[in-house]
Amino acid sequence: MACSSSSIASSCFFFFFFFHLSFSLLQLSSSASTDTISANQPLSGNQNITSKDGNFRLGFFVPPGSSSPSYYIGIWYNKISAFTPVWVANRATPVTDPTTSELRISGDGNLVLLANNFNASIIWSTNSATSNSTVVAVLLDTGNLQLRDESNSSLVFWQSFDHPTDTLLPGAKFGFNKITKRSQRLTSWKSKIDPAPGIFSFAMDQEGSFQYFSFWNSSRTYWTSGLWDGRIFSQIPELVPVYIYNFQVVNETDKNYFTYSVSNPNYFKSRCVIDPDSGQIQQLTWMENSNSWLLFWAQPRSKCSVYGVCGSFGSCHDLSTPFCTCIKGFTIKSQTDWSLGDRSQGCERVASLQCSGQNNSEEDGFFKMENVRLPDNSLSLAMLGNSQDCEQACLSNCSCNAYSFNSTGCFVWHGELLNLQEELNELGAGTLYLRLAASEFQTSEINKKRMVAHISAGVIVPSVVVCLFIIGALVWKRERKRAIQNSKVVQNSLVSFMYDELRIATKNFSEKLGAGGFGSVFKGSLPGSIDIAVKKLEGLYQGEKQFRAEVSTLGAIQHVNLIRLIGFCSQGTKKLLAYEFMPSGSLADHLFRSNLNVLDWKTRYQIAIGTARGLAYLHEQCRDNIIHCDIKPENILLDDALLPKVADFGLAKLVGRNFSKVLTTIRGSRGYIAPEWISGMPITTKVDVYSYGMMLFEIISGKRNLMHTGESSFEFFPLVATNKLVIGDVKTLLDQRLEGKANSEEFEIACKLACWCIQDDENSRPTMSQIVQALEGNLDVGIPPVPRSLQALNESWTRSINSSSSHQD
Ligand SMILES: *[C@@H]1O[C@H](CO)[C@@H](O)[C@H](O)[C@H]1NC(C)=O
Ligand SMILES: *[C@@H]1O[C@H](CO)[C@@H](O)[C@H](O)[C@H]1NC(C)=O
Ligand SMILES: *[C@@H]1O[C@H](CO)[C@@H](O)[C@H](O)[C@H]1NC(C)=O
Ligand SMILES: *[C@@H]1O[C@H](CO)[C@@H](O)[C@H](O)[C@H]1NC(C)=O
Ligand SMILES: *[C@@H]1O[C@H](CO)[C@@H](O)[C@H](O)[C@H]1NC(C)=O
Ligand SMILES: *[C@@H]1O[C@H](CO)[C@@H](O)[C@H](O)[C@H]1NC(C)=O
Ligand SMILES: *[C@@H]1O[C@H](CO)[C@@H](O)[C@H](O)[C@H]1NC(C)=O
Ligand SMILES: *[C@@H]1O[C@H](CO)[C@@H](O)[C@H](O)[C@H]1NC(C)=O
Ligand SMILES: *[C@@H]1O[C@H](CO)[C@@H](O)[C@H](O)[C@H]1NC(C)=O
Repeated sequence: MACSSSSIASSCFFFFFFFHLSFSLLQLSSSASTDTISANQPLSGNQNITSKDGNFRLGFFVPPGSSSPSYYIGIWYNKISAFTPVWVANRATPVTDPTTSELRISGDGNLVLLANNFNASIIWSTNSATSNSTVVAVLLDTGNLQLRDESNSSLVFWQSFDHPTDTLLPGAKFGFNKITKRSQRLTSWKSKIDPAPGIFSFAMDQEGSFQYFSFWNSSRTYWTSGLWDGRIFSQIPELVPVYIYNFQVVNETDKNYFTYSVSNPNYFKSRCVIDPDSGQIQQLTWMENSNSWLLFWAQPRSKCSVYGVCGSFGSCHDLSTPFCTCIKGFTIKSQTDWSLGDRSQGCERVASLQCSGQNNSEEDGFFKMENVRLPDNSLSLAMLGNSQDCEQACLSNCSCNAYSFNSTGCFVWHGELLNLQEELNELGAGTLYLRLAASEFQTSEINKKRMVAHISAGVIVPSVVVCLFIIGALVWKRERKRAIQNSKVVQNSLVSFMYDELRIATKNFSEKLGAGGFGSVFKGSLPGSIDIAVKKLEGLYQGEKQFRAEVSTLGAIQHVNLIRLIGFCSQGTKKLLAYEFMPSGSLADHLFRSNLNVLDWKTRYQIAIGTARGLAYLHEQCRDNIIHCDIKPENILLDDALLPKVADFGLAKLVGRNFSKVLTTIRGSRGYIAPEWISGMPITTKVDVYSYGMMLFEIISGKRNLMHTGESSFEFFPLVATNKLVIGDVKTLLDQRLEGKANSEEFEIACKLACWCIQDDENSRPTMSQIVQALEGNLDVGIPPVPRSLQALNESWTRSINSSSSHQD
């Protein structure tokens, strides 16, 4: 494909790769009639046209599940058992009777939908200037409908790819027109069965810069890809190929756009769509085996980041299903629409407020909602200095539905409450007092009690000494005490450092050891020549008390395979953690840096077992079931004897419960992140198992999983490995530098385990303690299936194997 692309991405946004959309598609003979609508062959009733190879079909359809006789002209997949429209012409103006309606080439050379031959009112038109009568409309095998000159197929006047509805297909160019100064826009369906434009949309920056935005009601932005830096979009760095794909970001004289592509002809069954239910952009690929659409990823990851996703008086919950509920005292207004993903009507009051005049027996009250994301259309009543006055102010106006009082003053909300999120533990969370009818409070005594129980549990658990497992700690403790006599020792014998102490110990933070997801790490030295590693935390949203509680929980976690926390510093916004120092660096240094000695197999196997033990301890033996969230070779540190210690655990929790925030802070960890996390599903300890599996592959091969093998081709080692595993040919997978020197039993176990760990379905993955048992030889490991998401890429694998072997030989 000859392109003036500014950059052929080696990394990308959407999946897949190497697209050579053959120009032969454009040279279809015009004699083929089944894919063409011509002036004397209109389309009506159940007539339809099919693209040349039968990939797509165009005709009238009724959305499946819809009970009303609403007919739309649309394009859908012809070879897929689940009816899936990818484009709709008259999305907001259905016709009721297709037999009296027709899609035809009009006299002025446009493609039009006429409802009713009788008065021939135009329902929909391509509205483009054409060269009149010799025009035909042709449905291509890419899913594109082109209006073009009958005798010259490169004279295209209009095409559906330039006017997408909610779906972006491979090959479509999606961007900004520099001449009209307009961006194309994907707009969600109103609901799963209603193609009318919904509330969510997606478009390139209206100013023409290379970034994409998601909008609520066309105007309010709730997500951005971040700017394209020539390699990645800055806000989605993790979307560099976990799966292999190719896309281009192109700057042409009249258009800036983004396009993605597919090599295998079968992969036309891949689509990017804005989902009416969640407001997310989703990338889906059809899986023949399971007859279903496989979700590769979704953005924003967290559905609750989507503005107003639960409608008015609805509340979003990040980690539960369903993610939308009505707040207390409210109920779903239209159950049918709601269950079809259209929550625009939101929730309504169960019991009317007193001031609506229906019941004057008791005054309205306020229900306290803690840790919620407050709606943003508040009215500030700054002059009211206390909470009682604020409450009164709200009570005295019938349209007031809630108030909040914080250090900035009194805020009230009139009208509907939108964009609420409960159980929020980060910046922006506040306490909302929701106005409810008096009758709502008669049952709430029980709730109140339940709430108290919740709160006390929350306070007690962290302060309980969790996970006591001290080996050799006594010696170390004594030394440490001597070294830092001047410092105050707090809970669980953690040292509370002053900022200046750590500044001096690290010589003004001069020796940087690395930068992880949660901040940079510096080498330091305490009096008595005890070396430490000091982590400067970034992006903390916690209060002082909560921080100390979490840190003291972390301090109590002690295991030979976990890095030990020595102390911390919490001075205002300055939050630092001091850890024991590991002189031998990280597993990443040893595996990927050529200047260090190659780790022998025995050592690698011990590192795999040790790491698994450390993680099993975090997952299963700690009271809190800590999910690490960032397992990768950089976070496995090695001591003098090359025994592994897992670093950076528990930090996800420190940063707050909003895991999507955590993910954005985990930069550079792409390739280790489990699919359910990327797609915004609730996560469990199995995300660590997935990352562990990816890391195990790297321990086996001694290489990064994703290797460039050519200008724009990759080899994805897990894909190679799982395929070889299935055919029983694993020997070639071992790091070549080891020259075949590995215990073959151990090697096979490691290969099989790694593949079990990266199964798409988290229930198919083993637990960490099962992994320990298997590595120790106490649990038999069966032959794993190739994970579905890898299976989908088998084609690309064949390609890259061919290209990589030709590179190497
Ligand atoms: C497509 O058209 C044929 C006849 O032209 C008809 O038999 C068939 O039912 C149509 N299919 C659909 C899905 O409308
Ligand atoms: C055509 O019919 C529709 C109703 O079917 C009506 O709304 C419209 O006004 C008519 N147009 C003309 C030009 O008569
Ligand atoms: C289409 O043809 C008519 C006459 O048949 C002519 O008046 C008109 O200008 C033509 N339109 C275009 C866009 O060429
Ligand atoms: C077809 O149209 C293109 C674009 O206008 C033009 O460059 C080309 O010469 C035309 N070909 C023929 C055979 O008329
Ligand atoms: C596209 O290219 C033009 C000219 O080379 C340049 O001025 C412009 O900044 C580029 N646009 C973007 C969005 O990179
Ligand atoms: C969307 O915005 C328009 C004006 O821009 C407004 O009239 C409409 O009420 C808004 N819709 C919702 C659901 O708020
Ligand atoms: C209630 O508040 C609304 C919004 O601020 C205001 O327009 C209205 O006049 C108030 N009503 C009374 C009775 O104060
Ligand atoms: C108090 O609440 C208002 C309204 O939501 C918010 O804008 C403001 O930032 C809050 N102030 C503080 C200090 O949290
Ligand atoms: C008013 O509220 C009380 C208690 O909530 C209830 O018993 C009574 O039936 C209500 N009266 C009317 C007219 O709704």
